[in-house]
Amino acid sequence: MTTPPTPPSHALWGGRFASGPDALFRAINDSLPFDWRLVHQDIQGSLAWADALGRAGVLGADEVARLHAALGDLDSEAAELASPPTDSGAEDVHTWVEQRLVAMLGPLGKKLHTGRSRNDQVATDLRLWTRATLDVRLAEIREVQRAFIALAEREIDTPLPGYTHLQRAQPVLLSHWAMAHFEAFDRDAGRLADARNRANRCPLGSAALAGTGYAIDRQTLAIDLGFAGPTANSMDGVADRDFVAESLGAASLCATHLSRLGEELILYSSGEFALVEMDDAVTSGSSIMPQKKNPDACELLRGKAGRIIGAATGFLVTLKGLPFAYNKDLQEDKEPLFDGLDQLGLCLRIATRVIQGCTFDRARCRQAALGGFANATELADYLVEQGVPFRDAHEQVGLLVRLALSRGITLEDLSLADLRTHAPAVKEDVYPRLTLEATLAKRQVEGGTAPARVREAIASARNRTED
Ligand code: ARG
Repeated sequence: MTTPPTPPSHALWGGRFASGPDALFRAINDSLPFDWRLVHQDIQGSLAWADALGRAGVLGADEVARLHAALGDLDSEAAELASPPTDSGAEDVHTWVEQRLVAMLGPLGKKLHTGRSRNDQVATDLRLWTRATLDVRLAEIREVQRAFIALAEREIDTPLPGYTHLQRAQPVLLSHWAMAHFEAFDRDAGRLADARNRANRCPLGSAALAGTGYAIDRQTLAIDLGFAGPTANSMDGVADRDFVAESLGAASLCATHLSRLGEELILYSSGEFALVEMDDAVTSGSSIMPQKKNPDACELLRGKAGRIIGAATGFLVTLKGLPFAYNKDLQEDKEPLFDGLDQLGLCLRIATRVIQGCTFDRARCRQAALGGFANATELADYLVEQGVPFRDAHEQVGLLVRLALSRGITLEDLSLADLRTHAPAVKEDVYPRLTLEATLAKRQVEGGTAPARVREAIASARNRTED
């Protein structure tokens, strides 16, 4: 049995159709349940479009004023609604706004869509939403960065083992590690700002695809809506969703950075590393094991990255086969965009909270940085200063590491005589060079972990996040 067709009364395109849409068709076609989120932007765009029609002489000043008043009331009405008004029968948010305007204003409500298409309308709405949302995400990235700066300042004297291949490699300052993450988020901020810039063009006036037939001043219209200017080509104006893909791409990379951070903190807070303890408020217990403190927030930073990358990937797949200009497939842009950017916001906010709540065990961090032969490179460098070619120095120190390992001691525990068995160039002055402080201080190069350099990096980071 087939569902009886519903009458076409609510549709914007009734004239051409003898019967209304099938209920299943409506289930796949209607976007109001999710594009309701654009209602404020739709009204914003409609206000500007009414003005543009007024300037073009299509609407009289009185008509524009009445449209403005009704749209203002509608904005308040929409703000009061707890959920999308799906019982209105409207197919999408644009239809709902028009329906309500007609109910409020009669024939004048039917005039607003003159020279406009839902194609340029939705592209404009979504750009307005994206621009506003990216601004919020940008501010949240800045908060993450500020949390890293505060951590770097708090732990300026704390050494940390630096890892490669997750094997202890060379000691660094904990602050250097914090500023490493700061840099990754700084690039994310740059990418989001770039995406925002390219999103900040106004497609309105492109109409269905060929450009509106009315004398619309698109420059003024774009500026009215706070855009940098109009899009250059009407077909591109309605077909382009690069700003969606780009925003999700930038979000994916940012989520990837949050995921890597989460993974590090999960490891560092495990009993085996025990370098850091997370705040109770961002961890959870076990329903069976009373001793457990689980790093759920960090695990979700790692887990959510998959979802955000999925949104970006899924949307690119939607986009890749589409002929110019508008196709209904493009309606599938909203849910991944909304979800991807929502989830990123949640991740950024919790990451700030996690970083602020980290308590590093300074003694253990120092102990860990002292172990693992993390000063072996330093000893090789010392030998180079004594005139030993680096490759030979590397070989000699490798042999000394084996000797120390066989005795269960560190390099600096070896006696001068022992050191000289494999590295004859070693002198008494080697010992002070093998201390943690000397090893750190030696990394004076720009971008290195020497305390003086790290202090400079923190100061520069402060400047960069202030504006
Ligand atoms: N709900 C549609 C979307 O989100 C609005 C545009 C519809 N355009 C059309 N020609 N049917 O893409």
